[in-house]
Amino acid sequence: MVEETAEPALPKGQKRSGGRQIDFVGLTGMSDPPPRRTTGIAELDRVTGGGLVPGSAILIGGDPGIGKSTLLLQATASLARGGKAAYISGEESVDQIRLRAQRLNVGDAPVMLASATAMRDILASLDHADAPDVVVIDSIQTMFVDSLDSAPGTVAQVRASAQELIRTAKRRGFTVVLVGHVTKEGTIAGPKVLEHMVDTVLYFEGERGHQFRILRAVKNRYGATDEIGVFEMTDGGLVEVANPSELFLADRREDVSGAAVFAGMEGSRPVLVEVQALVAPSPFSTPRRTVVGWDSGRLAMVMAVLEARCGVEMAGADVFLNVAGGLKIAEPAMDLAVAAALVSSLTGVPVPKDAVVFGEIGLSGEVRVVSQMDTRLKEAAKLGFGRALMPARRKKAGKNDDIVTTELAQLSELTLLLDDGGHARRIPRAGNRG
Ligand SMILES: Nc1ncnc2c1ncn2[C@@H]1O[C@H](COP(=O)(O)OP(=O)(O)OP(=O)(O)O)[C@@H](O)[C@H]1O
Ligand SMILES: [Mg+2]
Repeated sequence: MVEETAEPALPKGQKRSGGRQIDFVGLTGMSDPPPRRTTGIAELDRVTGGGLVPGSAILIGGDPGIGKSTLLLQATASLARGGKAAYISGEESVDQIRLRAQRLNVGDAPVMLASATAMRDILASLDHADAPDVVVIDSIQTMFVDSLDSAPGTVAQVRASAQELIRTAKRRGFTVVLVGHVTKEGTIAGPKVLEHMVDTVLYFEGERGHQFRILRAVKNRYGATDEIGVFEMTDGGLVEVANPSELFLADRREDVSGAAVFAGMEGSRPVLVEVQALVAPSPFSTPRRTVVGWDSGRLAMVMAVLEARCGVEMAGADVFLNVAGGLKIAEPAMDLAVAAALVSSLTGVPVPKDAVVFGEIGLSGEVRVVSQMDTRLKEAAKLGFGRALMPARRKKAGKNDDIVTTELAQLSELTLLLDDGGHARRIPRAGNRG
């Protein structure tokens, strides 16, 4: 037990002394925000919310070798052509970076390049009136503050280095971009407080063996966080992909069972992607459920609803689900596309080849409305799809003549569509249950 003394109440009318009065102001003010600096890489600008905000700090994390240094060197080179941009590396020598710059075809850009790790030197070079507009630090884990005893990369060093950089950036009005290593679990290494300290956190991700790279904002004080930027890794560096749907559908084989095209939304942008399912008899007593690119809990739910409400039996079967192209989908709107791929794999009846599918599935087997349905339909029509299996709309807004919509209220209507007339291997006639 610890004794605590209560502060004596102030006598009436007397003010608390010590401390200066702070001035409260209104929300409208005179200080115009300085313009954002666009990097010239449209996909990067989109993810940051329209360009880099002066005085802000951006943290970018990603697996080893995913292309963080490549992306930032390309961005720095592009920024250097319109202002002053510095690239400070603690991981590679100046010659190594020059070599990369040549490969990326930006060797002639007036980038201020340095290889350094001591925060004292870096700050001394940045903390003056004509500091660069943008400073890239690759990576924060290699930087060290000499007043601390611990080794670079430790929690204390990472925090202290980041704090000093961010403070200088705010004072001098430059944007600081920090590269952060990720842990085995895929989160940015070092203290969680690092993510709180910066204004924007971006993740650069991609599947090994795929050339697509996706830049995703997970925190942004100056923009939306559900935006993605899509890149393709080539010999000459990262190339922007302006229309990801075309890329994700490029290898699609039409008229095969077990595949459905999902019309999804990533932030403000519609993205069409193929989802593939394989339902096969299992040799094991505990069947396998393998999911790539989606949530396995969500798959279990869709399968349970199919079994309980539509009489589709998958109990003794291995189920594999794959989102083609290495994209990771988080939207519940993919439920219906997953259900279509599963049922189609089971019955052998292909989903109509010119159809896109989207909709959320509820536990009682109802198909629920999802957001931005007109945008999804428009994108599907643009890419030559003529039909959509989707939730029933409450009001017939935004009529689209280019695409025929099949509106489903119940999941059993979908299984009926993909039924091969009762001869299916395991699917009983849909609609007599649930
Ligand atoms: N000559 C080349 N041709 C094609 N792709 C290349 C070439 N050299 C490198 N790459 C690609 O660039 C990637 C490395 O990019 P980069 O060094 O920017 O990654 P990083 O995220 O900075 O890695 P690290 O975490 O190690 O710093 C390689 O994995 C490879 O895909
Ligand atoms: Mg690197």
